[in-house]
Amino acid sequence: MASSSSSDSSASAEVPAPYGNGPDAAAAAERKPARVRIHHLQQAKRDGTKFAMLTAYEQYTAEIFDAAGIEVLLVGDSASNNVFGNETSLPVTVDELLPLCRAVARSARRALVVADLPFGSYEVSAEQAVAAGVRFLKEGLAHAVKIEGGKYYAPTVRAMVQAGIPVMAHIGFTPQSEHALGGYRVQGRGDDAQRLIDDALALEEAGAFCVLMEMVPAETAAAVDAAVAVPTVGIGAGKATTGQVLVWQDMAGLRGGRMAKFVKQYADLRSTLHDAATAYGNDVRSGEFPGPEHSF
Ligand code: KIV
Repeated sequence: MASSSSSDSSASAEVPAPYGNGPDAAAAAERKPARVRIHHLQQAKRDGTKFAMLTAYEQYTAEIFDAAGIEVLLVGDSASNNVFGNETSLPVTVDELLPLCRAVARSARRALVVADLPFGSYEVSAEQAVAAGVRFLKEGLAHAVKIEGGKYYAPTVRAMVQAGIPVMAHIGFTPQSEHALGGYRVQGRGDDAQRLIDDALALEEAGAFCVLMEMVPAETAAAVDAAVAVPTVGIGAGKATTGQVLVWQDMAGLRGGRMAKFVKQYADLRSTLHDAATAYGNDVRSGEFPGPEHSF
């Protein structure tokens, strides 16, 4: 998917909301790029082009990733273990994620903002899921939500979509079920591939606009992608998906410790920040900072 969406005729025809179609529309569109919409992701699947997705949990990364042309920002429940200091994604709550989501949505001018429904906010009933989804669109300003789970959740997805909540489905390894799944384990190997195809088909039929697959063999992910018309996103799912997603602290090397095999690191922010903080601390202790140029 081209970052300006210029290859997409439906996108170039679109003039973003408050600017209308008057003589200044082109200049206005220059100032405020057209929002990436679900139909752009669907067009990418039809065109055989790719889009990129990263997590974001606050203002500056949202601004930077948006300006870098990342098409989809995910306010993931991975905030639990990448922002809030928990060991897993399970403890984070709707009330903790909503302010992060609002900050990301306010800061991203172009990207589609997807919010994770955290563990415990949608499993009980379709009504519970609709209520949580409404909060993320209304209070979190998200454009869509993501829920984890296979075909069992098709009725839930259907109810949410009917309520006007766009839903991305997350299948394969689903971190909220890490205890039930016996840890971080690849899903959909061998004969188990058919289960993921069935999940994806049921969720697509229920109205999910996209299927995300985590830790799935490349061959299985390719079979799932071929089975559904909606775009797919992969994390540890090979090359065949329409989009790819990574947790940003993994992608940019902010998180320490062991990285999953599927992570590619594009920077070493942990060392950069460590070096900056060390230099600052040394300057303060030696009296080097603040200098005359920093003083009034
Ligand atoms: O919360 C998250 O970061 C996710 C990604 C792993 C896809 O769900």
